[in-house]
Amino acid sequence: MTHAHQRLLIIDFGSQVTQLIARRLRELKVYCEIHPFNRVDDAFLKDFAPRAVIFSGGPASVFAEGAPMPPAAVFDLGVPILGICYGQQVMMHCLGGKVERGHGTAEFGRAYVTPADERLPLLDGWFAEGREQVWMSHGDHVSKLAPGFEVYGTSPNAPFAITADPARRFYAVQFHPEVHHTPKGAKLYENFVRLAGFTGDWTMGAYREDAIEKIRAQVGTKRVICALSGGVDSSVAAILIHEAIGAQLTCVFVDHGLLRLNEAEEVVSMFREHYNLPLIHADESALFLGALEGVSDPETKRKTIGRLFIETFEKHAKEIGGAEFLAQGTLYPDVIESVSVSGGPSVTIKSHHNVGGLPEKMGMKLVEPLRELFKDEVRALGRELGLPERFIRRHPFPGPGLAIRCPGEITREKLDILRRADAVYIDQIRRHGLYDSIWQAFAAILPVKTVGVMGDGRTYDYACALRAVTSVDGMTADYYPFTHDFLSETATRIINEVQGVNRVFYDVTSKPPGTIEME
Ligand code: XMP
Repeated sequence: MTHAHQRLLIIDFGSQVTQLIARRLRELKVYCEIHPFNRVDDAFLKDFAPRAVIFSGGPASVFAEGAPMPPAAVFDLGVPILGICYGQQVMMHCLGGKVERGHGTAEFGRAYVTPADERLPLLDGWFAEGREQVWMSHGDHVSKLAPGFEVYGTSPNAPFAITADPARRFYAVQFHPEVHHTPKGAKLYENFVRLAGFTGDWTMGAYREDAIEKIRAQVGTKRVICALSGGVDSSVAAILIHEAIGAQLTCVFVDHGLLRLNEAEEVVSMFREHYNLPLIHADESALFLGALEGVSDPETKRKTIGRLFIETFEKHAKEIGGAEFLAQGTLYPDVIESVSVSGGPSVTIKSHHNVGGLPEKMGMKLVEPLRELFKDEVRALGRELGLPERFIRRHPFPGPGLAIRCPGEITREKLDILRRADAVYIDQIRRHGLYDSIWQAFAAILPVKTVGVMGDGRTYDYACALRAVTSVDGMTADYYPFTHDFLSETATRIINEVQGVNRVFYDVTSKPPGTIEME
């Protein structure tokens, strides 16, 4: 098979940081995919046609029964291979070297590697100061090299920290060059892809062209429908598809009455006026808010919103005569299959709202033009497509919207107060130039009223909670350390400008044990 880009294959042995390898490579404009070791066989390798292969780290031991192994054919491809940590051990194991159990020689954390021999293209410009800091995390270690391999770098507890068989272009390191704590790790990847002949052909401009071709080939003359949420992912997907097939695309923006101040108007006018995108603005707020009346249980709220969303989307889809395809802004991290080491399903913390149930229910096929991208690449593509910077950098906003920022029963009055408090809070954050340093910030309205005093009078109003967190992927988070001045100025503004609030709290819970949203 011929592929549009030069491709690198990452065989995943279950390391926690495998995705970081992909990040480092994408930064070098190299297209790569991560696949679990047990899905990579000879036929797969042939079809994938990698120009180089990387073996990730992993928690297993090559001594364990059924230890994860790469397919033997990978060593006959004639392409460079880089093994990392477990990847190194498995490479030695497969090629005739020896690995020993780490009795007392385990090495975790920072270590320094010194050169044994610097004449290796992989190490070009690497040992600038005679030694390099790296991040180690291993129990077992290599004790005898496979034939053809030499040592190029050592650390106190890893005599085989950097090894290679230059003739076959096989490289294996005991440390993790993909993590932050290996400061020059990116240089190692750069050297590796350069010696493998990658020219850095993975650019957003090229991606855009390819994606458009692929969408046209998939869709033909059929119609596509897209649930536009106003978030970056669905917006970029919609604009890209519109560029590919024009009026064959219809977008439906379901306004559930749980959006932020002026949000619906902003989103709708941007897509209609700036992009001339066929867009149905479905104002269903009465339906959603009616169904949510009296509901205070978080899961019931989420399920009600999810169900109504699907029903209204379906209704509008029917009105325009249906469509054969549904567009979704699925990203690469959602598609990467995880290597299950411990097994077992994880517990449901919250039922997430998405349009996942739709394709089967409506018999539609999916168009997912962002399936190969990470979030920051979607942002780069958004810029390439001319989306305004302010829009691209917007904090994530959950599908159930303000419903989950209004714990307890939702009323129009509370929503209105919440919208205004949130707008003041975000305005404060922007004024202080903090918006881009924060992963997500929002106000919530608590289901309690408290007593206060304003002027000479007693007040009995709602308490408002402010949340701001830093995070990389939303899976874990820490609260943002605003200054006291910022917090008191913001609290004063909210109480002065938003009638109905007389007390402001700042949430200092991290995730875990908290979650980012209140419900
Ligand atoms: P939690 O509250 O689970 O949120 O810590 C993690 C991230 O996910 C967002 N979130 C959602 N996004 N549909 C979405 O599209 C949902 O139902 C949903 N619930 C939470 C949340 O805003 C945060 O960024």
